[in-house]
Amino acid sequence: MKDKIEWSDKNWKKFIVEQRKRMWLPDTIEKLAKWLDLKQGMKVADIGCGLGYLGWTYWKYFGKNGSYIGVDISEKLIKEAKELSDDWAKNCKVEFKRGDSYNLNFEDNSFDLVMCQTLLLHLDKPEIAIEEMKRILKPAGTIFCMEPDNYSNNLLAGFSSMKELTLDEQLINHKIHYYKFKGKKKLNKGDHTIGNKLPMLFHQAGFTNIDIRKNDIVRFMTPPYEMDFQKRFVKDIKKIVNKENNDEEEFWRKSIRKDVLAGGGSKYLLRKYFSLVEKRNEANLQKTLNLIEQKQYFSCRSTNFYAAKATKNGNDFKCP
Ligand SMILES: C[S@@+](CC[C@H](N)C(=O)[O-])C[C@H]1O[C@@H](n2cnc3c(N)ncnc32)[C@H](O)[C@@H]1O
Repeated sequence: MKDKIEWSDKNWKKFIVEQRKRMWLPDTIEKLAKWLDLKQGMKVADIGCGLGYLGWTYWKYFGKNGSYIGVDISEKLIKEAKELSDDWAKNCKVEFKRGDSYNLNFEDNSFDLVMCQTLLLHLDKPEIAIEEMKRILKPAGTIFCMEPDNYSNNLLAGFSSMKELTLDEQLINHKIHYYKFKGKKKLNKGDHTIGNKLPMLFHQAGFTNIDIRKNDIVRFMTPPYEMDFQKRFVKDIKKIVNKENNDEEEFWRKSIRKDVLAGGGSKYLLRKYFSLVEKRNEANLQKTLNLIEQKQYFSCRSTNFYAAKATKNGNDFKCP
């Protein structure tokens, strides 16, 4: 039961540490908690829990007399999640267990809510995980999954003060991501476009009351650039300009190369793409910093990240 990505490795882990701090807006979480009808006392499981992000985010809505169990395939993350929970779940019923989403070690009909975030996109057989999540839900219990469509996210350039890509450059970009996502599927790394397929997958698994929302966060740059994510944007660009992240760049290049070739893309296309990225960085990044300095840089961008829920049909309950 070894995941192909070890999420405790530094290049991956930053997604479940740094990125989680800015993933959802507090008022959206509030809205989703209402939408899910979360109540104190609920029994909740979080599959592919990582460091327990969903636990510490939603705990206040169900934790009083309730319980949370986080399950993850990574032994290292489970250990760390346990340590972190000392801070957010004092004297509360919180547990972390190593486990596989394809074969959950829980009784049938055990939980009021079973949730996951950015798990299904990495699975070769997400439908089996959904089936398992359904099995451990009580009749009339709720499944809650948050997953992106990273293919469209990679193509949505949004608006920025920088020069737009030419059509030819956009086509190179488009082709790379097309082959990358095809390659990921071929290599059994999951379907990274799964977000907008959640309603279909829930329907096929026999869920009812299916509903879906989107993360409404929008990233924008306008002077005085004082919001946390705006400051981080500037910091990240400076890192690239100063070539402080060469190792990280190389790590992602290797990963893209592998996926694109597996998906049917050519080495020639990869060369064109990497040279385009380099040219773009050279032409734009220092200019972006200069414009920020002059308070003349603007951008605005959102992503396709879905939150879907559904109900386990009471009729599915099988008497033991
Ligand atoms: C992108 S991380 C998401 C972590 C957490 N849900 C969050 O939002 O911060 C995906 C997690 O799924 C776990 N994972 C991958 N395959 C799994 C499987 N078959 N069973 C259980 N967990 C799995 C990984 O170890 C990783 O922690």
